Amino acid sequence: HPSNVQMEGGSVLERANCRAKGGAPGFKVAILGAAGGIGQPLAMLMKMNPLVSVLHLYDVVNAPGVTADISHMDTGAVVRGFLGQPQLDAALTGMDLVIIPAGVPRKPGMTRDDLFKINAGIVKTLCEGIARCCPNAIVNLISNPVNSTVPIAAEVFKKAGTYDPKRLLGVTMLDVVRANTFVAEVLGLDPREVSVPVVGGHAGVTILPLLSQVKPPCSFTKEETEYLTKRIQDGGTEVVQAKAGAGSATLSMAYAAVKFADRCLKGLRGDADIVECAFIESRVTELPFFATQVRLGRTGVEEIYQLGPLNEYERVGLEEAKKELAGSIEKGVSFIRK
Ligand code: NAD
Ligand code: LMR
Repeated sequence: HPSNVQMEGGSVLERANCRAKGGAPGFKVAILGAAGGIGQPLAMLMKMNPLVSVLHLYDVVNAPGVTADISHMDTGAVVRGFLGQPQLDAALTGMDLVIIPAGVPRKPGMTRDDLFKINAGIVKTLCEGIARCCPNAIVNLISNPVNSTVPIAAEVFKKAGTYDPKRLLGVTMLDVVRANTFVAEVLGLDPREVSVPVVGGHAGVTILPLLSQVKPPCSFTKEETEYLTKRIQDGGTEVVQAKAGAGSATLSMAYAAVKFADRCLKGLRGDADIVECAFIESRVTELPFFATQVRLGRTGVEEIYQLGPLNEYERVGLEEAKKELAGSIEKGVSFIRK
């Protein structure tokens, strides 16, 4: 067979498998939901990542097509496609990192919580597969509502006896990416020079940019603070409305997911000083999960940073964020425990 899409047979595939097995340096990464709006550009960008030696693309539709397409890129990673539930375990076995953008996106007028009904079950099924087949993998969870799907994943792993909070990360990188972009616009800087910590969670007021801690150090007027906070909190809705029924952020999300996954892989490789924001199990607040800056290493989250000094505006925002987050976390936990 001329492509890598099929699971077996064919000398081309055998050679590719040999190369992967022969210890080509790099990590094995699976994308669950790889044929979707995020999944496709995410798959393309991961195929371009030199740290990846094997890339597994799993979806319940169109995985062979996306795999055939991506597999023609002349980069190092060997690409294999997996279609439908019967192939989930094969997709997951041996993976170092699993990225999950599977699930339905918002339409105008919906909140992320409106996706819970469908996405909670999808995340549960996929995490049961991870517990069975690659319990030591780092999990990057993108499916919304992240504030509930991460607690769902944690409960699934606890039930299976495989839970390690250091390896379960809700992806909030898009909030950081947006914050860097919008703050740079206001400051007249290149976004690549700007770093904004965004804490809390990933929905509305739970998204709390810490504008008092922006690097390089700077200050904002009250109006600028209000404008930036609201724009960052409503960034997802801005895209949902502009797409007018055709989904939510996919391209900027794929970019953010790859940026985050690359940092996780660099941590796994043992690079020093890998610090990013993520939604994780945490004791920084009284809530069991919270997004803050974390240091990533060989075992996943190796250090969780405190919030640092907040100004009055941020202290008020934090209280609001915690109120909403508490309910979303509880909803996720009881979905599995009920
Ligand atoms: P999409 O509908 O374009 O793609 C989702 C893909 O998931 C589809 O290909 C679908 O077939 C697949 N899928 C559905 N059920 C599955 C299952 N059981 N197993 C495997 N795959 C399955 O949606 P999208 O735009 O790619 O968004 C995906 C999710 O990501 C949504 O929940 C969205 O809200 C979320 N999202 C999160 C962030 C974030 O910052 N964390 C940003 C953007 C979007
Ligand atoms: C985003 O922030 O773009 C995503 O969470 C998708 C959405 O529904 O807004």
